Amino acid sequence: EKGGWPSFMAKEVSEEPEAVANTVRGRVQDGAVVIPELDGLDELFRDIDRVIITACGTAFYAGMVGKYALEAWARVPVDVELAHEFRYRDPVIGARTLIVSISQSGETMDTLMAVKYAAEQGARTLSICNTQGATIPRESDAVVYTHAGPEVAVASTKAFVAQITALLLLGLHVGRVRETLPADASDDVTGLEALPEKIAQLLDEEQEHVEQLASWMADTRSVLFLGRNVGYPIAMEGALKLKEISYIHAEGFAAGELKHGPIALIEPGQPVFVIVPSPRHSALVHSKVVSNIQEIRARGARVIAVAEEGDAAVLPFADEVIRIPLAGPFLEPVLAVVPLHLFAMGLANAKGLDVDQPRNLAKSVTVE
Ligand code: BG6
Repeated sequence: EKGGWPSFMAKEVSEEPEAVANTVRGRVQDGAVVIPELDGLDELFRDIDRVIITACGTAFYAGMVGKYALEAWARVPVDVELAHEFRYRDPVIGARTLIVSISQSGETMDTLMAVKYAAEQGARTLSICNTQGATIPRESDAVVYTHAGPEVAVASTKAFVAQITALLLLGLHVGRVRETLPADASDDVTGLEALPEKIAQLLDEEQEHVEQLASWMADTRSVLFLGRNVGYPIAMEGALKLKEISYIHAEGFAAGELKHGPIALIEPGQPVFVIVPSPRHSALVHSKVVSNIQEIRARGARVIAVAEEGDAAVLPFADEVIRIPLAGPFLEPVLAVVPLHLFAMGLANAKGLDVDQPRNLAKSVTVE
């Protein structure tokens, strides 16, 4: 039931704070992350020498964010691979490989086949899933449910923020077991508990602004998205959402890659979203993204910066600034993606499209 909302997507975006809260609930004990479902797996987590995250679509981008956090916190090498690519080559995996699959539905055939294949090769499998009792968790050794509640709109929104949250919890859990967590990891635990409120604040402060922006841009033919580090998968997700529901050509890039090709696309008036990382986390990375903004601005791009509150460095160069509340380096993407979900929805609405049932797409693709 839409419960008064114009679309399931609108309802589900409004439920993003709750989705994150439900994913975190019951998984913090005395200031540390303890995922009860993973009880008994400590030895496995200490023993693994490699993690491969596998998924499709939006879930794949959540996996890319997960890679950064898992490597930082659990000090284990992590690869992220599209399930249909992983399945049809001859990957080097074995008993010390942990396969982490991510699927909202738990029924995506490409992802299921990757999990089955990995298990046959002797790897251990853990799934992050939103649907209780679905096939992928049933085929996995362990499951961490996101508890985001049913998602009806084809384009994933609240499930995406919940997937990133589950990966952050997994990273903090595995890092605790492996004794690799940095001293300030407790700040991230507190940060995770505070995230729902920050998403709610962001929706409150920026929803109207972003929707207005989207309606002004209803005739736009192409939008680019740039991000660096954990902002890179968010740029990819922003572009995917726009393609999926507003049928506009959109591409996401790693900001550092700009000068190696994509900058050729910049012409006067080209809208570019830039996910600006917090200067508090790395002044260097922040300054590199600000230079990217200057480079594209000099070539006439219309820059829409998604930057944290108080970041004044973007002001002279951005045409629009969307503000996100302050959060830790791996938590920031959960906030940065929210305006991109709102933008894609706003643009599809401005074009009069059905945001819940985009053409040619299905909520869950159960064929290979
Ligand atoms: C696609 C859906 O087919 O499958 C996407 O249209 C989704 O929205 C992707 O991200 C993966 O789905 P799931 O259920 O495995 O997360």
